[in-house]
Amino acid sequence: MSTTYTVDVIAGDGIGLEVVPAAIACVDLLAAGGGFSVEWRHRPWGSEHYRQHGAMMPEDGIEQLRSGDAVFLGAVGTPGIPDDVTLWGLLIPIRRAFQQYVNLRPVKTIPGRPGTELDMLIVRENVEGEYSEIGGRFGRGTPEEMAIQESIFTRRGIERVTRFAAARAAERGGTIISATKSNGIIHTMPFWDEVVAEVAADAGVAVDSVLIDALAARFVLKPASIDVVVASNLFGDILSDLGAAIAGSIGIAPSANLNPEREFPSLFEPVHGSAPDIAGKGIANPVAAIWSASMMLEHLGEQQAAQAMHDACFGALADGIATGDLGGSATTEEFTAAVLERLERTGADA
Ligand code: NAD
Ligand code: IPM
Ligand code: MN
Repeated sequence: MSTTYTVDVIAGDGIGLEVVPAAIACVDLLAAGGGFSVEWRHRPWGSEHYRQHGAMMPEDGIEQLRSGDAVFLGAVGTPGIPDDVTLWGLLIPIRRAFQQYVNLRPVKTIPGRPGTELDMLIVRENVEGEYSEIGGRFGRGTPEEMAIQESIFTRRGIERVTRFAAARAAERGGTIISATKSNGIIHTMPFWDEVVAEVAADAGVAVDSVLIDALAARFVLKPASIDVVVASNLFGDILSDLGAAIAGSIGIAPSANLNPEREFPSLFEPVHGSAPDIAGKGIANPVAAIWSASMMLEHLGEQQAAQAMHDACFGALADGIATGDLGGSATTEEFTAAVLERLERTGADA
């Protein structure tokens, strides 16, 4: 009997609406030949929902997602509505409610592109750290006006994300680089360093603790020296766009927001945003979305289909087919058609 997965789709805003259908088409083609099916529950949530209803998702939105096997998201954010409203109204609450405390972001060389070979795995803490609601705005409109933003780092939070990173490093035979700033941030970052070191020692994995400023330079200058990176919420966010840009474009970077214990659905999405500057033009790179969908299939246990999807996507790139951000001339649809064609040839029978 074939398995049916229920996946909630939040295409969201901007190019999210363009790259999500590309990924769905690839999954559906593989499902047809791969003995599984996907029931896509399309959720029209995002900025348009906000304009109509004053909220990014229904009040019971999280409850509606709870029964699914995974969530697939495009992007959120639109000019005209403040980003803190759109993101804290949809994506960030989902990550937190479902304890998706690992944000896994691989970066790899794009086949056929000149430059250093790189293969990194950024393991970003995803539910605490610098992203917190603790703080406030005071004295608005007065010369004494100020804002306070607290960071929250917990032993449990640092331990669990480091344990995940250490396990990946052990599988890959590498060491962990821990992104820190314990020279300037004197409470949270020394604590981060201590807990990371304890967990890594326990896991038998070596840690290279690197200050974030020097690490940013090392990403650019010696990307091949980087394997698994464990980073706080904000540092991991910045490093993942940087890593993708070094590989060629942020249009290729995928991510898996994982609840490793599988108590709740995990969420898969491109690293990039809604790209209002190119939205509606049909030129967005769908690689990040397709690769994220491949990570979703892997999480669901469809390893063969996941690999086929990844290979078809990288195969199209190796053959020189690419969207404008990578210097090519393919539209979103043309690139997707090239992936589908490769999947028809190989993937579906795999
Ligand atoms: P962005 O990632 O949307 O775009 C940055 C630059 O990269 C733009 O020039 C854009 O055209 C380009 N780009 C991004 N994805 C691309 C793709 N697939 N193909 C080709 N080019 C691509 O970042 P931004 O401009 O800082 O943010 C735009 C909006 O998206 C904001 O509202 C922001 O808050 C939001 N955002 C949302 C998410 C998310 O939903 N996960 C992530 C990042 C940013
Ligand atoms: C990402 C995004 C989000 C983040 C924003 C939109 C809140 O940049 O997923 O990388 O910082 O987590
Ligand atoms: Mn980001």
